[in-house]
Amino acid sequence: MRLTVIGTGYLGAVHAACMADIGHDVLGVDVDPEKITALTEGRTPFYEPGLDDVLARTLASGRLRFTTSLREAAAHGEVHFICVGTPQQPGSPAADLRHVDAVVDGLAPHLPASCLVVGKSTVPVGTTSRLTTRIADLAPAGVRAAVAWNPEFLREGFAVEDTLHPDRLVVGATSREADDTLRRVYAPMLAAGVPYISTDPNTAELVKVAANSFLATKISFINAMAEVCDAVGADVATLADALGHDSRIGRRFLNAGIGFGGGCLPKDIRAFTARAEELGVGTAVAFLDQVDAINQRQRTRTVALARRTAGGDLTGLRVTVLGATFKPNSDDVRDSPALAIASALHHEGADVRVHDPEGTANAQLAHPELSCSTDLLTACQGTELVLHLTEWSQYRELDPFKLARAVRTPLLIDGRNALAHAEWRAAGWTVRALGRPAPTNHTDADRPHDPLRTTVASPSTEVDRTTALA
Ligand code: UDX
Repeated sequence: MRLTVIGTGYLGAVHAACMADIGHDVLGVDVDPEKITALTEGRTPFYEPGLDDVLARTLASGRLRFTTSLREAAAHGEVHFICVGTPQQPGSPAADLRHVDAVVDGLAPHLPASCLVVGKSTVPVGTTSRLTTRIADLAPAGVRAAVAWNPEFLREGFAVEDTLHPDRLVVGATSREADDTLRRVYAPMLAAGVPYISTDPNTAELVKVAANSFLATKISFINAMAEVCDAVGADVATLADALGHDSRIGRRFLNAGIGFGGGCLPKDIRAFTARAEELGVGTAVAFLDQVDAINQRQRTRTVALARRTAGGDLTGLRVTVLGATFKPNSDDVRDSPALAIASALHHEGADVRVHDPEGTANAQLAHPELSCSTDLLTACQGTELVLHLTEWSQYRELDPFKLARAVRTPLLIDGRNALAHAEWRAAGWTVRALGRPAPTNHTDADRPHDPLRTTVASPSTEVDRTTALA
């Protein structure tokens, strides 16, 4: 099938390459000529594991091309996928739909005959209906253009896998014909048994914001429990493990830490509350304000923990932040809790160095005040406090003995509860984490956090050095 994919960011570039990979003839479109040149030459303009390979083989097959021209796109596609960003509006919780509207305005006047426009971006409920009218107004007389919504659930870092092997496909269409067209687009996935949920556009749009709201709520729930654990010296990691064994709850997305960030969850829950207000059902999702507040609080609580650990004042303290991106296996620093914390420490007078394997260029652009490095030992040399804020696998593979020799003070805050605390303590480190008690001879707080564990480790025999250092 002849498809166009408009918008070649994290979502669109992956969708375009994967649609070509399953056999379609795809034209990717973007307003940014540099991005289009890079993609045409097989260079991915961002870090996404596996995308380079798919891009290389689909470009070589001749089934994937790129352009900046919406006129060319209109002529090419029987199905046009809209994959542009819907960021938060400046100064408002609502979504900014100007890129979606610009695509429709640029495409509609050139549409040749009958076609299907399919939105994949995350949008406020009601957008399909609004765009249907807009396209009808702008398209030449006699053109039959249907609009459907087919939300995308891909996770950065697993985007290729999630696109080629989604756990479900959701399509909101108003006609049988539109639904059938999308079934043909996704025929290989349907043949592989991927569940296909055919519904109306409002429901399809809502599925996406409801899914992200649920995930955000789950994370903030466990982070709220971390606050309670801190009040009584209980252990949130053990609590999460114990909850997770209940199959109705499940262990995934119950990792307590510095909270969620990225280009989706934070802005999506805010846009949902704004849209619900407009619809007169703001109270129904008012809890999402609390979800957001708990999430923000984890950042300030982490800074407060750093301050406390440093003895009450961060001025002049040499601090190393491990991780800048909002999650591992990505170079995306949008609304990154790691960077927000690094910046707050800097503004409290700490001398902050940030390390990240892939995200330093974006981090430096977003926070020019921070000093960033891709060399771990340089970033840690002579430091007095290390904060582990993005759980890249190489941080879990660090040798804490070796690192202890590079730093000035072996003091670690594990903001992701992902390091093997007992090993770090055995190497002489003092380890702190939100929702985790300081170890005593009788607690299990030292054990590595492993969600798959089912039994409790033997009690730690380590002597707590924290009070001496803090
Ligand atoms: C999310 C949704 O998962 C995806 O379905 C949607 O299409 C886009 O938004 P993504 O933004 O790539 O995907 O990241 P995700 O893996 O969901 O993580 C979001 C944030 O939550 C990250 O900052 C992550 O570190 C944090 N997180 C996740 C936690 O703090 N604890 C957890 O247990 C899980």
